[in-house]
Amino acid sequence: MTANNGRAASRHVVTNEGAAAEGKRKGTARLRPQYAHYAHITGWGMAVPERVLANAELSRLVDTSDEWIVTRTGIKQRRIAEGKETSTTLAVEAAQRALEMADVLPEDVDMIVVATCTPEYAFPPTACLVQEAIGAERAAAFDVSAACTGFIAALGIASEAVRCGSVGAALVIGTETLSKVTNWQDRGTCILFGDGAGAVVVQGSDVPGGVMSYLLRSDGSGGNLLSLPSIGAVRAPGVTGRLDHTIDMNGREVFRFATRAMASITREAVAVAGLTMEDISLIIPHQANRRIIEAAARGLELPDEKFYMNVERYGNTSAASIPLALCEAVAEGRVRPNDRLVFVGFGGGLTWGAIAVHWDVTTPPEVSRWRHLGRQTRIGFSRVRSLGRRVLRRVEGVFFGSQAAEVEPPHRGGKK
Ligand code: ACO
Repeated sequence: MTANNGRAASRHVVTNEGAAAEGKRKGTARLRPQYAHYAHITGWGMAVPERVLANAELSRLVDTSDEWIVTRTGIKQRRIAEGKETSTTLAVEAAQRALEMADVLPEDVDMIVVATCTPEYAFPPTACLVQEAIGAERAAAFDVSAACTGFIAALGIASEAVRCGSVGAALVIGTETLSKVTNWQDRGTCILFGDGAGAVVVQGSDVPGGVMSYLLRSDGSGGNLLSLPSIGAVRAPGVTGRLDHTIDMNGREVFRFATRAMASITREAVAVAGLTMEDISLIIPHQANRRIIEAAARGLELPDEKFYMNVERYGNTSAASIPLALCEAVAEGRVRPNDRLVFVGFGGGLTWGAIAVHWDVTTPPEVSRWRHLGRQTRIGFSRVRSLGRRVLRRVEGVFFGSQAAEVEPPHRGGKK
């Protein structure tokens, strides 16, 4: 079971004119202009595990206190995946909510990009597991790895594909289960991280607005400051030299880098979009630490209120943190039609990036119960077709002597 606050904010984004938009709502036309010059966010959704891990409970695991964690980070609690919850299952739930809000059917999704540093598998990509679970039969699907900057990278890639017209609708997901790679004996890191997923739908249109600028930067010389050794590691690149699959971090150095990078890349993204800082209504930053966000605000000479923060509820959810924050900012009425926003992230790599968005929303048309049921039925049919393809592959293997009979699917995603 997961909680969802994003859906409560029932809004809809206008992405195309008259008949096309009306046709899209009725499911009679695909919103796929050949040369869509603009990429609009038209749906969003989130999913977090129900299990809450509060600071008080953490202070029984390591030598820390609620007071220390709140003062140094702003974090009060985080969500922790349990049982069969994985980055995939959270991604599937967030994706389904985003698609429903955008009123886009799974078969109309052309591309799925998942940002995660906690995939279940190196391959198949998490995006392919999502693709099957939601029944997006026509979609290209791949993962991007850019640590906490992952969602910015994924949204940028998808927006560019939409803008050039080769993709009509893209699903962009940030999903993490960092609790699985946290060293629960290390008080310097285990207090920071949490689990969750957020997703957005991006659609093409010739109506001006949507994603206005997209910037990414990297500095591999700082790779050792924040690392998570993976299955191919021959030696840990991290500061402590440990070789285990848990997060290794030089907190002070990352802190210094983050405050500088966030301020400079935000300024750049705003300038490239042809805007000034005064035009920006809200900045939705990666939620790593309240003090980092406040320092970035000082660097930009902006009041803290210009930055959305929900780090106290979820901690640092890496690639999921910006879409989670976006969902909650919309639900709380902090994002309004015609607002100019900036999404800004930083993380391991080192990587950092920002996206300026013109949030052009109007009141949504209510998605009818029948359309909702229709969507569920189509997902059901698509799962049956997927199962049919597996069976067919086995039968072919028997008759045509395939060397390796297909083994059980690695994962089915979706609701438990
Ligand atoms: N509880 C109590 N004391 C602690 C804890 C804890 N959980 N953790 C560290 N301390 C102690 C240290 O041991 C140190 O004690 P000492 O002075 O006796 O040696 C003291 O507190 C101060 O330690 P600092 O590391 O200087 O504490 P700081 O104020 O820098 O806060 C923190 C540490 C919160 C980790 C901070 O540096 C930070 O947030 N850095 C950025 C981390 C970050 O954002 N990482 C994610 C990047 S995104 C990604 O890609 C995953």
